[in-house]
Amino acid sequence: MSSNIIRFVFENKIHEIKNLDPNETILNFIRLRLKKTGTKEGCAEGGCGACTVVIGELKKNNIVYKAINSCIAFTTSLEGKQLLVVEDLMQKDGSLHPVQSAMVNFHGSQCGFCTPGFVMSLFSMYKNNTSYDKKTIEESISGNLCRCTGYRPIIDAAKSLNNKKPDQFKINEKKTINLLKKIRPENIYINNKNKKYFAPRTVIELKKIIKKNPNLKFLSGGTDLALIVTKQKKDIENIIYLNSIDELNYIKENNKYIEIGATTPLRKFELFIKKYYPDFNTILKRYGSIQIRNIATIAGNIATASPIGDSLPLLLSLDASICIENFNSKTILSLKDFFISYRKTKLKKGQFISSIRIPIYKKNIFKAYKISKRIDDDISSVCASFNVIIVNKRIKNIKIAYGGMAPIPKRAIHCEKILLNSDFSEEVILKAQISLKTDFQPINDMRASKNYRMEIAKNLLFKCFTEIKNNKSIRLNY
Ligand SMILES: Cc1cc2nc3c(=O)[nH]c(=O)nc-3n(C[C@H](O)[C@H](O)[C@H](O)COP(=O)(O)OP(=O)(O)OC[C@H]3O[C@@H](n4cnc5c(N)ncnc54)[C@H](O)[C@@H]3O)c2cc1C
Ligand code: FES
Ligand code: FES
Repeated sequence: MSSNIIRFVFENKIHEIKNLDPNETILNFIRLRLKKTGTKEGCAEGGCGACTVVIGELKKNNIVYKAINSCIAFTTSLEGKQLLVVEDLMQKDGSLHPVQSAMVNFHGSQCGFCTPGFVMSLFSMYKNNTSYDKKTIEESISGNLCRCTGYRPIIDAAKSLNNKKPDQFKINEKKTINLLKKIRPENIYINNKNKKYFAPRTVIELKKIIKKNPNLKFLSGGTDLALIVTKQKKDIENIIYLNSIDELNYIKENNKYIEIGATTPLRKFELFIKKYYPDFNTILKRYGSIQIRNIATIAGNIATASPIGDSLPLLLSLDASICIENFNSKTILSLKDFFISYRKTKLKKGQFISSIRIPIYKKNIFKAYKISKRIDDDISSVCASFNVIIVNKRIKNIKIAYGGMAPIPKRAIHCEKILLNSDFSEEVILKAQISLKTDFQPINDMRASKNYRMEIAKNLLFKCFTEIKNNKSIRLNY
């Protein structure tokens, strides 16, 4: 069974839209069609948070609230969810939601342009936590920019939310859950003025679609892809949406490896990976913002193959592999063999990444560093990752990978050769630093000069050595 109707809960009713334009963003839908203009457009590329809305998803009879950037999410992705915009927060008697009252009481708004976005990010924080410390608050608003109030009054407003009372959404929760349950999962197929959109619910259905339409563009979180529409002002004509497939939203582990399904949001993975590789979690905490990580996937980060994709050096140094499938085959490929040249990969038409496997090392030391101009919501100038096993002061295993140093994310093979089976000493590290020039010839661009990149790469190697030698992290700000 398939349908061309997108159904979602909005204003306590099930909203239905037939044959929607698959390229219409939630932001345009809200502002232009619903005429709700509280939600603002700032950058149209996921970077300022002015367009933040909250999505409610039914998980095990509970509603999970996620802040997202409506400017880069397509309206079709609302299927089966609840949409909450800033206008929904005011209660029937006209009184403000506790988050809105706190912003008023603590003078959290001046010109007001960023305010609806901050309110929605704080609303999501309010719904998903029971108390709000500095870390939780800063993380919740890391994807929101304010250019006139400044952040202190907003943080004070957020702190005042501790000891909250149930809000109107808690009181109405059962009603909303019943409405969400009424939307039965269906495969979606839309054909709108020659734009095709498929949202299969199962891998079997996905494969049937791929077999007939190998030229479709895969869409996961859309945090890269949607920018073709919002920034390049082009259409994406044929889309196959993967994030509707719950079967691919999983994290499994056995003795040897962790397997992450392709539609698993980064936010879920970030919380999981901490117990195995804490530095992976640290890097992901600085990956975009909560709005981005709530929907973006690792599979999308790999397939888009940016030389500065943050998960890539980490996965390379951990020697991760990926499962690639099409309608009738499945292969497992080491990630180090996947990237061909700038943004070119081994993926052929009709092939998709179904999962990612990360080996579990028992006695290794894993370290990762991201150098960017800002701590939050910024892409790396250089990202480095080190996976080392040291036995009796000798380096018994070493895998090093860098992002931002070459047209593709890449292992530092020459540097590794010098280090492998050598003493773990300053002298060897200094020699290995020099060999990075054989591994990489970085470029100048707006993020960093080639000389800066090379110096950073060398220094990060030395920093890794110093941290291991002194058994101490040397980190600023995080
Ligand atoms: C504001 C902002 C901040 C960002 N910050 C960072 C950052 O700090 N670090 C970073 O690395 N990136 C960052 N990004 C980039 C982006 O968020 C990541 O690359 C993200 O992981 C992409 O995942 P996605 O699920 O959104 O992919 P999508 O946008 O849905 O897809 C990206 C590409 O991968 C393909 N694709 C997706 N899934 C699959 C699959 N399963 N199989 C085959 N092909 C597939 C799509 O066809 C498309 O070509 C940022 C983006 C924005 C807008
Ligand atoms: S408008 Fe800036 S993040 Fe959406
Ligand atoms: S209040 Fe003006 S940008 Fe934040």
